Amino acid sequence: MTPFPDSRNAQTWSMVEGEFHFTADDFQKIAQILHSYAGIALGEGKAALVYSRLAKRLRILGLQSFREYCALISDSRQVDERLAMMAALTTNVTRFFREPHHFDHLRDKIMPALAQRARRGGRVRLWSAACSNGQEPYSMAITVLTALPEAANLDVKILATDIDPNMVAEGRAGIYREEAIEPVPVDLRRQWFSKVPDSKTCQVKDELRALVSFRELNLIGDWPMRGKFDVIFCRNVVIYFDEPTQELIWNRFAPMIENKGVLYIGHSERVSGPAARLLETDGLTTYTLKDRA
Ligand SMILES: C[S@@+](CC[C@H](N)C(=O)[O-])C[C@H]1O[C@@H](n2cnc3c(N)ncnc32)[C@H](O)[C@@H]1O
Repeated sequence: MTPFPDSRNAQTWSMVEGEFHFTADDFQKIAQILHSYAGIALGEGKAALVYSRLAKRLRILGLQSFREYCALISDSRQVDERLAMMAALTTNVTRFFREPHHFDHLRDKIMPALAQRARRGGRVRLWSAACSNGQEPYSMAITVLTALPEAANLDVKILATDIDPNMVAEGRAGIYREEAIEPVPVDLRRQWFSKVPDSKTCQVKDELRALVSFRELNLIGDWPMRGKFDVIFCRNVVIYFDEPTQELIWNRFAPMIENKGVLYIGHSERVSGPAARLLETDGLTTYTLKDRA
């Protein structure tokens, strides 16, 4: 099932007999649609991955070739299939308390002032941009509620967004396999999760869920939010974008960050382009607005 260069044409990938024909043109078409739809850049080294992930879609749709599949997704009205393609080609890998130093920083350096503001009646907003199936925003919510147990009664909200409607739905449901919640410290696990009877899953408790609003949002599309955020997590997604798109995204975040707010990014990402002049690091992959005074 591994694609190999067709000896007749180095630019053409063909598959073992009986499988779908997959040409360099097909790959380019898919890469171009994914890029314009989600900002994701696919290098030619990803041809085998594209083939193996999308072959399943071709079978489900009863198509005979990638050429037919490309004709289908070239039609911009095929929103569902474009989403299915995007979901098949992107990674949703996430973990509770992934890169734990960010949650330590949030708890120790950011939450004390935010808790004080919320207790005085102020507004506090956090955003998990590209939240996958919710493990990141729920880790944020646990951190917030640990510092501010009465958060549910104050003006404190966490927005959780992702381009993938399946991930948004999973996040909203807040049900995870028992192994998934292992990174959550035992005391917090007991406090914030309840076992779903007759299953190997646990559900996030209502108080935690109430703090988080899940929405679909494409980072390269419109952002309908008007207010600024005290805390933005945008981790392990921009890495899939090309450099100009990355710069664009960082530049859109900068004006959305409250004074003394913070932006957490993924371990292999760095803020680049014009936004780098507005943001300064405050620890590993942690950025705050530069003092403009
Ligand atoms: C690797 S996961 C990262 C999840 C989480 N931030 C973390 O670090 O654990 C990347 C997520 O980005 C989402 N994504 C990809 N392109 C996106 C886009 N253009 N806009 C919003 N989300 C996107 C994917 O659906 C996926 O859930």
